[in-house]
Amino acid sequence: MSERERTFVMVKPDGVNRGLVGEVISRLEDRGLKLVGAKFMQIDEDLAHEHYGEHEGKPFFEGLVDFITSDPVVAMVWEGQDATRQVRKMMGETDPAESAPGTIRGDYGLDLGRNVIHGSDHEDPGANEREISLFFDDDELVDWEREDETWLYE
Ligand code: RTP
Ligand code: MG
Repeated sequence: MSERERTFVMVKPDGVNRGLVGEVISRLEDRGLKLVGAKFMQIDEDLAHEHYGEHEGKPFFEGLVDFITSDPVVAMVWEGQDATRQVRKMMGETDPAESAPGTIRGDYGLDLGRNVIHGSDHEDPGANEREISLFFDDDELVDWEREDETWLYE
């Protein structure tokens, strides 16, 4: 069985402008994941370069930085069993056009460059912790127990 862990999730500027913040939060809450940190913020150039550093030099990089810094985002930390991988499954594929209906990108997106949500990559060990500490100080994260936690886990 996988460990309970924390993962970094962000509603991107397209999701914020399209009024999808509540929808994304609802889906993660309904699944049983626990919100332990959140901030509404605008990403600056430096943070964007650091966050998407793995893509530096790729043809889409500058466009990606322009987009992610263009308007506010909602940065969040969610906790739960196998959280990183489960969130990625709920997001769908990178390209919304290839994402199954029922996933966030499959239900709310059409275009690769406007895919509503970011989640830490579960295939990149430590990406979740790295991204959490890039966006949040320790004292901005809350340890708490969801009222229904005893019903979510065996
Ligand atoms: P994200 O990091 O934003 O959650 O997306 P992801 O893991 O599903 O995909 P990733 O490979 O990390 O790519 C980051 C974002 O760059 C854009 N992209 N464009 N034109 C292209 O070939 C291309 N490839 C990726 C996407 O908007 C993707 O979310
Ligand atoms: Mg990624």
